[in-house]
Order: sequence, then C-alpha cells, then structure tokens
Amino acid sequence: MQKKTSPRTALITGASSGVGAEFARQLLASGHADSFWLIARRRERLESLAAELEAAGARSCRVLPLDLSQDDDLRRLADLLEQERPTLAWLVNSAGAGRIGHVATLGPDANRAQCRLNVEALVAVTGLCLPHLARGSHIVQLASIAAFLPQPGFATYAATKAFVLSYSRALASELRERQISVTAVCPGPMETEFFRVAGESSKTTGRIKSLGIETVDHVVRTAIRRARAGRQVSISSLVGQLIRLISRLLPHGFILRVMRRLGFGD
Ligand SMILES: NC(=O)c1ccc[n+]([C@@H]2O[C@H](COP(=O)([O-])OP(=O)(O)OC[C@H]3O[C@@H](n4cnc5c(N)ncnc54)[C@H](OP(=O)(O)O)[C@@H]3O)[C@@H](O)[C@H]2O)c1
Repeated sequence: MQKKTSPRTALITGASSGVGAEFARQLLASGHADSFWLIARRRERLESLAAELEAAGARSCRVLPLDLSQDDDLRRLADLLEQERPTLAWLVNSAGAGRIGHVATLGPDANRAQCRLNVEALVAVTGLCLPHLARGSHIVQLASIAAFLPQPGFATYAATKAFVLSYSRALASELRERQISVTAVCPGPMETEFFRVAGESSKTTGRIKSLGIETVDHVVRTAIRRARAGRQVSISSLVGQLIRLISRLLPHGFILRVMRRLGFGD
C-alpha cells in the first residue's frame, strides 16, 4: 500500500507573472511543494498556471484572484486562512510593483500605491500566514538590489524594498526558535512584466537595465537554495554583490553624488 504523505503547501502572491509564477513551477519540479495557493488580480492567468501545475503533478491549486492593496481582499484572505487552516511549507511574497519617475512627477497616489502593495500588503500577508507556517517552513520576500541604496528617479520603490529587506532580516531573527527561515531576495533587473508597469521608455529604465539583466530562472533557483539553507538574503548576481558591498563601504551621500553624475535619476 502506498504511504499517504501530507501536502506541502506554498502560498504565493504575484503568481500570475514573472517571479511568482516561476517559484510555483520550481517548487513543484524540485518536490519542495505540491499544493498551491496562487494569488494575484488576474484570474485567467492564475487559472492557466494552476492547469499547468496540475498537469505537471500538483495535488491541488487554489486560485485566489485578490487585489492585495485592498483591505476587503486582505480580509477575504484572512477569512479563508481561518476557515481552511492550511499548514504552509512556503510563503512567497512576490506581488510588487514600481513606478519610475521623480516623486513630485508621479504624484501622491502613485507613490502611495507602491507603499500599499510592496510594504503594507507584504506585511499583512506575512502576518496572516504566520500562524499557519509549519516548523521548518520558509518565507521568501521579494526585495531588490534597489534595497541597498536610495535611488533618485525610483525613490519610493527603492525605499519600499529597503523596508522589505530590514523587516525580513528582523523577522528571521524573531522566527529562529520556530525554525522558520526568512529570506529577502535581492535581484537586479529581470525581463518580466515589471518594467511595463514601471515605465519601459525612461532614461532611468535604460540605466537600471545597463546593470545587466538577470534571468528569472536563476534568481528563483538561487532563492530556493538560499531559503533552504536558512540564509537571510539571496543575491544572485555579481553586480548585486558589488552594489551591496559599495553601499556598506562608502557614505551614501557620496554614492548619490556619483549616481547623479552618471545620470541616474534624470
Ligand atoms: N523584474 C525586475 O526587474 C525586478 C527586480 C528586482 C525585484 N523585483 C521584484 O520582484 C517581484 C516580482 O516582480 P516580477 O518581476 O515578477 O514582476 P511582474 O511580472 O510585474 O509580477 C508582479 C506580480 O504582482 C502582482 N500584483 C501586482 N499588483 C497586485 C495587487 N494589487 N494585488 C495582487 N497582486 C498584484 C501581478 O499580478 P496581477 O497584475 O495579476 O495582479 C504579478 O503577478 C516584485 O516584488 C518586484 O518588485 C523585480
């Protein structure tokens, strides 16, 4: 008789595209998860990913079309978690967006929207999932190399990612006793739908992309490995490592002056 094993469930936000969808694929393929709660706003994208995962052997996929920047939708998620009480092996907070442009040009709504999604929603989803995370489980939070330095021309976005990095590291320390790892993932630019939302044609986009494009596959593979090793930060490129080192060694005022000279933030 075949032994029945319990499901290994991953709750993934931002699963309709890019990094979130790739996490679902790689967690299934590597055998680290076999059941999924897939969250984003676009239902049809989530349904198509769910069909793909089920065809590849997933036990179950729950499609949750939610707008995480809306309190009502966060309440729906809270109610569902309360009713179903899943045991989570993975929480991946990948939902996020940035808008390139000066703070004054973007205006208060666009700046606040980034904080609501990248900061408030991530904190809310993490808090809702904490009671359901099993011993030995993993939390993966999508930060960015933008977390290491203030970034004129992308100021609000970079600040939200600095929050994610700081929050995740402190949380990792708090959850040590429960043997839950927390990993802040800090990729450089990737070719996902991200820059379509952020603004594809600006000079700042060109300068950011000139740092070198990372593949989603490599970013996610590295992040899963680092999370399983209990590491607090996952940087998957040499440029990322270098930016982090520079941000630690040199005064940020000086770096900002150099960045302006190089045209960052024009
Ligand atoms: N791509 C890059 O260059 C890059 C670099 C460093 C860090 N990151 C970070 O990596 C993460 C994933 O980005 P990505 O590259 O995969 O970008 P992406 O392809 O644009 O994916 C973003 C995901 O977030 C979801 N989302 C956006 N607004 C939402 C909302 N209000 N409620 C629920 N879900 C929402 C989107 O789905 P719906 O539109 O269907 O809601 C989508 O699934 C983000 O946190 C991003 O900041 C990206």
